[in-house]
Amino acid sequence: MKLILCKTYEEMSMAAADEISALVASNPCCTLGLATGSTPIGMYRQLINRYKKGEIDFSGVTTFNLDEYYPISRENDQSYYHFMHQNLFDYVNVPKENIHIPNGEVSDPETECQEYENLLTANGQIDLQVLGIGQNGHIGFNEPDSSLWALTHITDLTESTIQANSRFFEKEEDVPKRALTMGMVTILKSKKILLLANGKNKHEAISALLDDRITTSVPATLLKTHPDVVLICDGEAYYG
Ligand code: F6R
Repeated sequence: MKLILCKTYEEMSMAAADEISALVASNPCCTLGLATGSTPIGMYRQLINRYKKGEIDFSGVTTFNLDEYYPISRENDQSYYHFMHQNLFDYVNVPKENIHIPNGEVSDPETECQEYENLLTANGQIDLQVLGIGQNGHIGFNEPDSSLWALTHITDLTESTIQANSRFFEKEEDVPKRALTMGMVTILKSKKILLLANGKNKHEAISALLDDRITTSVPATLLKTHPDVVLICDGEAYYG
């Protein structure tokens, strides 16, 4: 695992945007795996600025998002569909038809997951998957458990994740209790993985990622089996 230790969130966001810019420049038709949450917002801001300055062109890029709450309407301002449009897609030129986000509106989530996984397989490998990390070590919405699902699936959110994510909702009861998420194998199939983490509250999860053990009770530790992971984090996440 390669480590890029940054002094500030701004520096982290620049380093992450540099990775994406370099990939898109060398492979304009690449596939990006994208994440939501607070962590990548600065990186998306950087990418929007670079696009406005003509430094990056997304016209050939395809994207697949990691996850979406279930059930949730795409119009709900807490949906990841809404998040991605508000924080990136409304401001850059990724073609609409190249954008993929699991659909939290469907009546049959199992079929949606199967179709999402099939679409990913048909598209070929994700070139670069961006990840945040939950305080409990979750990746996407692969929550700590005695076993993990390999492929895209519907899952229950843990109490700790519901609580952590309630900061975005009016009240905790409004947080959806389930989500559609790529599985650990779906994520590990990506050519390269970029994991971003900032803040003291991520220190425990990052420590587990940096020790020698692999355990499904900290799903991020499975990333140790991947040959090309870049961890971009700040001192608080790294040192505690
Ligand atoms: C989001 C996702 C989650 C977040 C994680 C960290 O698409 O898959 O795993 O990356 O919950 O969230 P933040 O960045 O808000 O701390």
